[in-house]
Amino acid sequence: MKIFLVGGAGYIGSVCTEQLLDEGHEVAVFDNLSEGHRRAVDPRARFIEGDLTQHDQIETALSNCRSDAVMHFAANALVGESMQNPSKYFRNNISNGLNLLDAMVATGVRRMVFSSTCAIFGPPDRLPIDETAPARPISPYGESKLAFEKILRWYRSWRFIREVAARKRTGLWKIGSRCFQEKAVYETPDGTCIRDYIHIVDLARAHILALGAVVSGFYNLGTGGGSSVWEVIAACRKITGRKIDTIEKLRRPGDPARLIASSEKIKNELGWRPQFQSLEAIIESAWKWHQKFPDGYED
Ligand SMILES: NC(=O)c1ccc[n+]([C@@H]2O[C@H](COP(=O)([O-])OP(=O)(O)OC[C@H]3O[C@@H](n4cnc5c(N)ncnc54)[C@H](O)[C@@H]3O)[C@@H](O)[C@H]2O)c1
Repeated sequence: MKIFLVGGAGYIGSVCTEQLLDEGHEVAVFDNLSEGHRRAVDPRARFIEGDLTQHDQIETALSNCRSDAVMHFAANALVGESMQNPSKYFRNNISNGLNLLDAMVATGVRRMVFSSTCAIFGPPDRLPIDETAPARPISPYGESKLAFEKILRWYRSWRFIREVAARKRTGLWKIGSRCFQEKAVYETPDGTCIRDYIHIVDLARAHILALGAVVSGFYNLGTGGGSSVWEVIAACRKITGRKIDTIEKLRRPGDPARLIASSEKIKNELGWRPQFQSLEAIIESAWKWHQKFPDGYED
C-alpha cells in the first residue's frame, strides 16, 4: 500500500514508518518537525516538510503521493501542557486534523488510522479499561482527541471514510540518565501509581494491523497487566546498572492510582499479539536505544 503518514518524524510515527517499509509498503511522511526530527525518518521514506495548518499543502502532497491510506500521528500530546494551553491542543488536534480529513475527501483517500489516547477516558470506574468504558476526559488533551474521534464517526457516514482509532497511554520516556519522579501515596501496594507499558514496536504493529481492518472501529491497547513506578525504577536500575535518583512529588490531582487497558478486542478482531511481554524486555530494548542515541535524534 501507499501510506501517507502524518507525524512520521515523531516517536511512534517514525517506528511505524520503519516497520511499514520493512513490510514492503511505500511511505510518504508529512511532518512540520515541530516536535519530530528529520533524522528519525527512515531514508527509504519520502519526506515532505509540511504543516497541517496548510490545507493546500496537504491536498497537493496527498494527491502527488496517490496514497491508499492515511495514518495520523500528528498531534500535541502532553496532558500537563494542555492544562496550561488548551487552545494549542484544540487547534492542532482538532482544527488541523479537520484540514487533513477535508484533504482526504478532496483527493478521494478513504481510509485513516488515527492514533488516539486512553486519556479520552479519564478516571476509570473499573479495570481493565475496555472500549465500552465511558469517555470522560479530564484534560484538554484527552478532550481534543475524543472530539476528533467523534468527528471521524461523522466523516464515516458523510464521506464514507473508514477509520480505525488506536487508543493508548503515555509511555515510558526517559530512562537511566534522568531521574524518575516518584509519585507517592496512591492506593497501591507500594504507594506509587500503576500503569501498563507497551513496547513501541508492538504499538506500531497494532497501528499497521489497523490498516487492514475491514470495518471502522476503536481499539484500546495495553498489556492487561501493570507495573508501579517503583517496579519500573527497580527494573531500570537492574538493567542499566545505574543508581538512578528519584524525586518524590505529591500526587497529581486527577491522576488515577491504576490505569490498565484491555486489548481483548484488538487481539480477537485483528490478531494483535505483543512481542515484548515483560517490563524488563521493554526497558532492556529502550536502554539499548538510549545507549546508541544518548541525546535522542537531536543534532
Ligand atoms: N507517546 C505516547 O505515549 C502516546 C500515548 C497516547 C497517545 N499518543 C498519540 O500518538 C500520536 C503520536 O505521539 P508521539 O508520542 O509519537 O508524538 P510526537 O510528538 O513524537 O510526534 C508527533 C509528530 O507530529 C508532528 N506534528 C505535530 N503537529 C503537526 C502539524 N500541525 N503538522 C505537521 N506535523 C505535525 C510533530 O512534529 C511530530 O513529529 C499522537 O497523536 C498522540 O496523541 C502517544
